[in-house]
Formats: sequence, structure tokens, C-alpha cells
Amino acid sequence: MRGIILAGGSGTRLHPSTLSVSKQLLPVYDKPMVYYPLSTLMLAGVREVLIISNPEHLDAYRALLGEGSVWGMRFAYVSQSSPRGLADAFILGEDFIDNEPVALMLGDNILYGSGLVEKLRSAAEIKRGAVIFAYLVKDPERFGIVELDHEQKPVSLEEKPSQPKSNYAVPGVYFYDAKVVEYAKSLKPSKRGEIEITDLNRIYLAQKELEVKVLGRGVAWLDAGTPEALLQAANFIQAVQDRQGFKISCPEEIAYRMKFIDRQQLAHIKDECKNPDYKQYLDDLIVETTIE
Ligand code: DAU
Repeated sequence: MRGIILAGGSGTRLHPSTLSVSKQLLPVYDKPMVYYPLSTLMLAGVREVLIISNPEHLDAYRALLGEGSVWGMRFAYVSQSSPRGLADAFILGEDFIDNEPVALMLGDNILYGSGLVEKLRSAAEIKRGAVIFAYLVKDPERFGIVELDHEQKPVSLEEKPSQPKSNYAVPGVYFYDAKVVEYAKSLKPSKRGEIEITDLNRIYLAQKELEVKVLGRGVAWLDAGTPEALLQAANFIQAVQDRQGFKISCPEEIAYRMKFIDRQQLAHIKDECKNPDYKQYLDDLIVETTIE
């Protein structure tokens, strides 16, 4: 399966920090924000990723991620001239998608926790229909919301409803079959002038082809769109990493553990690494897995 990371938008809630820098390149503790969604896609088994961002920021993503082979990945880049909506990713990405199933992840969403990887991998296996996730929140009016029946099957979907029918928010990671491009092209802009991912998911719901996987309390879902949320996300990552000694969303480690690269390739990355702490982490990983 191919993947798309949507890393555009104007990041107004983080101005002035995002006046000259793309929001999804700001650091979340010890690494750029985009590493987190990228890691999520990699853990799902996705090795070809399209990065979509504003024209003025795309070169910064190219400088950071390159063409991907160092991590056993393939990265492609497309610019979005204005924030026309999340579903625009599939129109801009039509050539990249090339009639195959595709995953979309929002560049400011961070997912971490128990049982997540299995759910992502099974979602990435779909050949037909769509898979989205549901996550209990206390402020449902801020998100896309899915109403579920007693068997946890989807009943309705709404984007930021003022009177939500449920507390299940839909996180920014979605898996679709190849029909998504055609469906995205059929969408009309909403009141806020965007082609909405929620309207796209509604099409799959109407076709009875929408599966919802509920993420439990053991999973953390964070976004990093405001100064407070960015700081909270950084504190969360720091606390967990410091306690466990494992890095969250280290693409080099994931590429190695997923066998996208071998030990020799990881050793090469480590040798090139100029940050002593990051280098030590990669070195420890090599030593530990050599003993195993
Ligand atoms: O975070 C999950 C939520 O994301 C979902 O629950 C909602 O259903 C979904 O609509 C979306 O809501 P947001 O209001 O958070 O979306 P926002 O417009 O902030 O865009 C999310 C990210 O995507 C943001 O980092 C900017 C980027 N983006 C957004 C748009 C509209 C783009 O790159 N291009 C775009 O055209």
C-alpha cells in the first residue's frame, strides 16, 4: 500500500512560529513533527510515501527526507497551492496512487500505544472499501465524529458538529481502496470552502464499505496544532522516551526493525549521524540486535 502525508495548511494557530516554517517541520521534542506520522505509515508497512505541502515549503521536506532509499523507502513530493481540504490529497496524488489502495495521514497527528500497530497493519491490507479509526474524546465538537451502533458499526459521520451524536472522534489516519480518487473528485466544497474527508468517508458509509476500528485507552492520539498541544506532545514524548529508553517514532529504527534496511545500512546511517545522543541510540540498537 502507498501512503500520503498531508503537511500543508497555514498553521495560523502557531503564528508567528509558522510564518516562515511549515508547521509539520517544527520539532516535537527531539525530532521533526512529520517523523511521527511517517513512522506510523512505516509501521503499517507502507514504503512509498507522497508528501504534500505548500509550494514554499516543499524544498524543506526534500532537504529533510530526500528520495528515501537510505531508509528503504521511496518519497515523492507534490505541492498544494491552497488548503482546499483533506480530500484534495487524493486529487493531487492521483498519479502517485496509480489505481492502488492508499493510506492518508495528517502531518500533525501523533499516534502511539498498545495494539496500534496490529490495527494499522490489518487496515493496510484492505483491497476494497475504507478503514477509519474511532477514539473517545471529551471535546467531540472539535473533530470529525462517527456514531457507532451496539456492534461498533458506523451509523453516521459528521464534521465538527455543534451537537455531537457521539464522543468518538476520527483521528487523522485513513485507509482507502483505489476508488478514493474518483470519489474525491465528486465532492463539493463544504461551508468552510474545503472538500472534506468526512464527506468522502460518508460515500463509503453509504456504500456499506466503511469499516471503523476503535482505538482503546492504551493508545495516545495527540495533535500538535496549537502552542499548548505542541508543548504537551513534546512533554509526552520526552516522558515516555526518558522512562523506557526507547525512542518514539525513530524512522531509522523502524526501517531496520521492519527489515526495510539491513544492519549494514543502519550502521552507515549511524556513522553519518552528527548528533552524539542519536548516534549512541542507533549504536545501542545495532549492538542489542546483534546479540539477539
Ligand atoms: O485531526 C483529526 C481531524 O482532522 C479529523 O477528526 C477531522 O475530521 C478532519 O477534518 C481534520 O480536522 P482539522 O480541522 O484538524 O483539519 P485541519 O484543517 O486542521 O487540517 C489537518 C492538517 O492537514 C493540518 O495540519 C493542515 C493540513 N492540511 C489541511 C488542509 C485543509 C493540508 O495540508 N491541506 C489542506 O487542504
